[in-house]
Amino acid sequence: MTTIELKPSSSPLSDAERAAILANPGFGRHFTDHMVTIRWTEGRGWHDGQLAPYGPLSLDPATNVLHYAQEIFEGLKAYRRPDGSVASFRPDANARRFQRSAHRIGMPELPVETFIEACDALVRQDEAWVPEHGGEESLYLRPFMIATEVGLGVRPANEYLFVVIASPAGPYFPGGVKPVSIWASEDRVRAVPGGVGDAKTGGNYAASLLAQAEAAAKGCDQVCYLDAVEHKWVEELGGMNLYFVYGNKIVTPTLTGSLLAGITRDSLLQVARDLGYESVEERVSIDQWKTDTENGTLTEVFACGTAAVITPVGTVKSARGEWLHSGGRPGEVTMKLREALLDIQTGKAEDVHGWMHEL
Ligand code: PLP
Ligand code: COI
Repeated sequence: MTTIELKPSSSPLSDAERAAILANPGFGRHFTDHMVTIRWTEGRGWHDGQLAPYGPLSLDPATNVLHYAQEIFEGLKAYRRPDGSVASFRPDANARRFQRSAHRIGMPELPVETFIEACDALVRQDEAWVPEHGGEESLYLRPFMIATEVGLGVRPANEYLFVVIASPAGPYFPGGVKPVSIWASEDRVRAVPGGVGDAKTGGNYAASLLAQAEAAAKGCDQVCYLDAVEHKWVEELGGMNLYFVYGNKIVTPTLTGSLLAGITRDSLLQVARDLGYESVEERVSIDQWKTDTENGTLTEVFACGTAAVITPVGTVKSARGEWLHSGGRPGEVTMKLREALLDIQTGKAEDVHGWMHEL
């Protein structure tokens, strides 16, 4: 495995400054004292692993990633457990998805154990940044990789930089667990069959920004994307998967290749079964969503992802009309699943599936 050399920061934030941030971390606003970097060069492979002070990257203006967006990223969280120890949630699953994204974008695949060691090394060094046990706060880890070859040729680069940064995280949506409103867009698509929708690459998020701004203009928090061919099958939100609750059965859209295989989504298929619900992957159309809400069979809808955990869906607006779930309040099944998942992640409940990775 690539070794990671430690070059500690000579000026970490003071305990008081860090405590002030941890009292109200928000999401993605503050970063810890260190970062991990590992380089890849054609012919040499992975090398120069470093755990160094957090700071700017210096890039030549002709660096490949700045022009052609050869970039991938991940998101995972480390939690403080009741005994004060720290564990991350399914880092192996993120590492494998990072490899799949790398393959799709023509990048070298980082070994799973190197990905996990890089995350562990950063959390170990900046452990004081992991929020206390007791709330929903965690340390969000953001591994990413960029093409660093200098030049304007359009081809897979011959040099890459893998980086892990960390950010203490409170709720992704401020204001507690309150339902988000959704604009189901029938003209803007996120991803096409054969495209890169199932890779976690920055371009997918750039492509979602205009639709997100249009949703905001319609008074909605998030965009729900439909499939790009028939414009009727529900795929996902810009940064979250979706679940539909039919009484005791929960349904999430089938992985078609144009939506991201969320690790929260996958975990909930299991957590739901553990709680005695039936959980299935099925195609859900926008018409079915509306009709089943109106006839009362679809009882709740929620979104899920690492950053957003589980967030109830309230109002849905689309070209087919507007409807509301659970009277605009968080649904009962949604909240049960949310609590069960968070209990595993924060170490309150037994980790029967071996998902937690201790440092
Ligand atoms: N879908 C998209 C487009 C995302 O960016 C994310 C966030 O990572 C998810 C779904 C949820 O995935 P996960 O549960 O692995 O965080
Ligand atoms: C995550 O949930 O980790 C994500 O990557 C979503 C996001 C903040 C874009």
